[in-house]
Formats: sequence, C-alpha cells, structure tokens
Amino acid sequence: MTQIKAAITAVHGNLPDYILTNKELEQMVDTSDEWISTRTGIRERRILKGEGLGTSDMGAKAVSGLLEKRGVDPSEVDMVLCATVTPDMKFPAAANLISHKAGIKNAFSYDMNAACSGFLYALVTAANYVESGNYKKVVVVGADKMSSIVDYTDRQTCVLFGDAACAVLLEPTQEDVGVLDHKFATDGAGWIHLHMKAGGSLKPPSHETVDAREHYIYQEGQPVFKFAVTKMADASLDVMKNNNLSTGDVSWLVPHQANMRIIEATGRRMNIPAEKVMVNIHKYGNTTNATIPLCLWDYENQLNKGDNIILTAFGGGFTWGAIWLKWAY
Ligand code: ACO
Repeated sequence: MTQIKAAITAVHGNLPDYILTNKELEQMVDTSDEWISTRTGIRERRILKGEGLGTSDMGAKAVSGLLEKRGVDPSEVDMVLCATVTPDMKFPAAANLISHKAGIKNAFSYDMNAACSGFLYALVTAANYVESGNYKKVVVVGADKMSSIVDYTDRQTCVLFGDAACAVLLEPTQEDVGVLDHKFATDGAGWIHLHMKAGGSLKPPSHETVDAREHYIYQEGQPVFKFAVTKMADASLDVMKNNNLSTGDVSWLVPHQANMRIIEATGRRMNIPAEKVMVNIHKYGNTTNATIPLCLWDYENQLNKGDNIILTAFGGGFTWGAIWLKWAY
C-alpha cells in the first residue's frame, strides 16, 4: 500500500493595513533608518491597530481566504492548529477563536507554542494527523500580534517585529510530494536569553511587574544571533544529508525571517545561492510564527510541483529545526 503523505495544497496570508516604517520608528526611539536597514534588513513592518482586535482576527482572515482559495467549505475542515506566542488570551486557544470566526464547526483545534519555530513544529504535527489517514483537511496557521508584547521604548527589540498571520491547508496525497522529513531540537537552557519575564505562573501579573515593563519581550540579541546562524544551517544540512539531497537538489531555502544577516549567513553556511533563498523581511520584519508561510505565499507564483524546499527556523526556548518538503502544485 502506498504511504499517505501530507501535501500543502494552498497558502494564504493576512497582513494588517498599517505600515510602521523605519522613519516613524526614528520618532519613537533613538534609532535610524540606516541602522535598522543595515543591521537587520528591515524597512517596514505591519501593525494591527484598532480596539478589540487580536491575533485571532488576522488568523481567521488568513484561514477564510485560504479555504475560499482552495474551494473548501469551512464544514469540511477536520482540524486547525495555530502556532502563536501571542494568543488573544491565555486561554482559550487562539485556534478555537480562529475556527469560530472562520465558521469552522466540525473541527478540533489547539495552539502550539515553540516561539519562532512554532510553525514548523505545527506543520509536522499536522502532517502526522494527515498521514494517519483519519484527517483529510487540516489547517495550520502561524499568527502573531507581536506589537502586543513589544516594548516600544526598547530600541533593540521594537525595530524587529511585525504583526501578521498566514495559513496553509494540508491534504492527503499518494504522490511523491508533501512534508517528507524533518529535524527538530530544543535546548531549554537558552530561555535565559529570550523570554517574557512576567505574566506566567512563575511571576503572575502585578502592579510591580507592569511598572517594571516585564510583560514585553526580553532579548539578548547577540547570543540569539550566534545561535540562530549555526543551528538553522546545521538542522537544514542534517535533513539534506539524511535524505541524500545535495545543495543543487534544493530549489528553495525558506529561513525564518529574523534578521537579514542571519538569513544570509545561513545561506552561505549551506552553500545555497542567494537567488534560491526566500526573503521578505524588508516588508514585514519578524512576524514570529507567520514568517515562513508568508514567504511561501509571497513566492507562490515561482514554485513548481516537485520543488525541493527546505524550511528552517529558530526561536525562543531555544527551539530550532528544519523540514524537507516537496511542493505539491
Ligand atoms: N538603533 C540604533 N542603535 C541600536 C539599536 C537600534 N535600533 N539597537 C541596538 N543599537 C546599538 C546598541 O546599543 C549598541 O550600541 P553600543 O555599541 O554603543 O553599545 C550597537 O547598536 C550594537 O548593538 P548590538 O546588540 O551588538 O547589535 P547587533 O548587531 O547584534 O544587532 C540585533 C542587534 C538586531 C538585535 C541582533 O543581535 C539580532 O538580530 N539578534 C537576533 C534576534 C533574533 O533573531 N530574534 C529572533 C527570535 S524572536 C522569537 O523567538 C520570539
């Protein structure tokens, strides 16, 4: 019997309208367009403005657009997984709210949190459900309203992040396409370099934690930078080696979009030419769980059935990994 594989059959994103430019950031903190562009590659990022709007609003729009694009009725969806670090509330899961807002009633849904690696972890988790043969239409959405946890007085972090959501549909196939292999890892000792100090069970919210600005991203940029550069390339090369893929076999490298210098260094370490590396960080910044599907969405017209694609990410945790997939359409 031919093994069932999970193929991405559609991708669709949602970007808030508001564009926060480097010039505007110059008015908010002591920075410059020149510093941000040369040190990060980011020129602008999107921000979700408006009362009462959270991650699930972007996620639901991405999912509704996805289903419409593929001609799938919401009632046909079996499962929705949302990768996020900024759910609307601590509970219920953003995935539950996304399903509700997108009119999905016959599915079960939950969130996964692996910081910037979350979309990759969710994609493999979802692929396993599809490969079991019991699930025919599974949605994976990466969505983050990073502006809700960014300290706009901290110039080291506020220039990096943006808001967005992007979703993919996974369906079973017996062709030689889809999610084929992965290599994931976690090192919890890395928590010290990248975390949010308060708001969890360790340090519940209080007047003191708010006054100390502890509900924002805390990041030591340089250790994260060094870690990212080696781990994304190593995980990608491991997956390639395990599957006898040479550099020439890889059609596209899709790295998490955190810093243009990290993206370039990863490509260099892997010997992948720049024209095969997907980049959109200049437009959106680091949208955490949305960066990788947003790249696929942006480059969708350039993809061909059978293309070998390596997705790779790293993030808070530390978490990191790489996936090998073959494009299915
Ligand atoms: N504008 C102007 N100057 C700045 C800014 C800014 N926005 N930010 C920092 N600087 C200054 C620093 O204060 C420092 O000044 P000093 O030399 O006088 O002390 C100087 O620039 C250099 O600072 P570095 O921290 O060495 O700058 P670096 O080149 O490392 O860039 C950055 C900082 C962009 C944060 C980089 O370290 C980075 O991208 N790290 C990785 C971050 C990342 O990828 N995180 C993703 C994970 S997110 C997640 O998982 C949720």
